[in-house]
Amino acid sequence: MKRLSLLLAVALGLAATVSARSAVIECWFVEDAGGGKLAKKPAALLLRQGAESPPPRPDLAPERYLKVHAVLTVFTHTPTPRIRMGQDALLDLSFAYVPLTPKAATSLVPGPPPFGLEWRRQHLGKGHLLLAVTPGLNGQVPAAQEGSVAFAAWDDDEPWGPWTGNGTFWLPAVQPSQEGTYLATVHLPYLQGQITLELAVQKPPKVALTPAPLVWAAPGEAPPELLCLVSHFYPSQGLEVEWELRGGPEGRFQKAEGQRWLSALRHHSDGSVSLSAHLQPPPVTSEQHGARYACRVHHPSLPALGRSAEVTLQVAGLSGPSLEDGIGLFLSAFLLLGLLKALSWAAAYLLATQNSTEKKTE
Ligand SMILES: *[C@@H]1O[C@H](CO)[C@@H](O)[C@H](O)[C@H]1NC(C)=O
Repeated sequence: MKRLSLLLAVALGLAATVSARSAVIECWFVEDAGGGKLAKKPAALLLRQGAESPPPRPDLAPERYLKVHAVLTVFTHTPTPRIRMGQDALLDLSFAYVPLTPKAATSLVPGPPPFGLEWRRQHLGKGHLLLAVTPGLNGQVPAAQEGSVAFAAWDDDEPWGPWTGNGTFWLPAVQPSQEGTYLATVHLPYLQGQITLELAVQKPPKVALTPAPLVWAAPGEAPPELLCLVSHFYPSQGLEVEWELRGGPEGRFQKAEGQRWLSALRHHSDGSVSLSAHLQPPPVTSEQHGARYACRVHHPSLPALGRSAEVTLQVAGLSGPSLEDGIGLFLSAFLLLGLLKALSWAAAYLLATQNSTEKKTE
């Protein structure tokens, strides 16, 4: 195998668990061309778990197989953080540095090398420097933007390495305008490692249904239009509204029939949006009494089942105040009044006869 002096910087976006057998990641080979010159070449690296031998590549001469040693590794456990609107974002970043030749290090001062850290946001093709930290590297440090803070430090202080560092970035009260690609770069004197994170902001919708909690209709007539207010959510994409009829005669759970439509989006000053979904149910039958109309909302910020609100259908004549019920109520009241009158007469009569018997016995 050809002996080459190679420095390798690797950027890894790790999901919480690395389950894939192999993963293609991006990295650069930084080749020491001698005389202090460094050449940076893009390359793709196939990572394999376990100590398998490299896959045969007949198109490559055997001397092109290089056993490389990653010296600077930059990685994150949250490559696509989803942050609830208004909450703080903690963009996790770690890096590790392994000196290539421990003997070479003896000529230097012991301890981890100085490093620099940069966090940028890429939005609509424009880069925006949010924060730069250069402990040990003498440079002009611009003020951090948008209240951001970075925990830029080596975690260990071993004299000859390897060392791990923490470059976690904290952004307070995240708003939709702060969505985008975040680029973190770790600079070492001869190397740099970069990683990108995709920050998405989310806000789950509030769901309310009117009229509530009951909607009335006579048999054979259509209930009034139902309005489902889906409010203050973000992003506007990925919202779905379903109408269901629960507990009707044809089974426990079915899609509600009727005409449905969505209003236009209303934009709020905080960047969130609202809309209303409408349903005009078809005429109802008395068997549908007690069934519930529900509007179910799906959004990326909500669990798979979504969020729903419901209203109970009352078909008049079954338990509502129908005309017959009204007459019945009137008659009952009339009879009760009559009974009370009769009782009071009886009581007066009894009292009068008692008084007269008492008088007789005196
Ligand atoms: C990095 O620092 C932050 C703030 O102190 C901490 O919350 C986080 O757990 C650290 N990360 C690692 C990998 O140690």
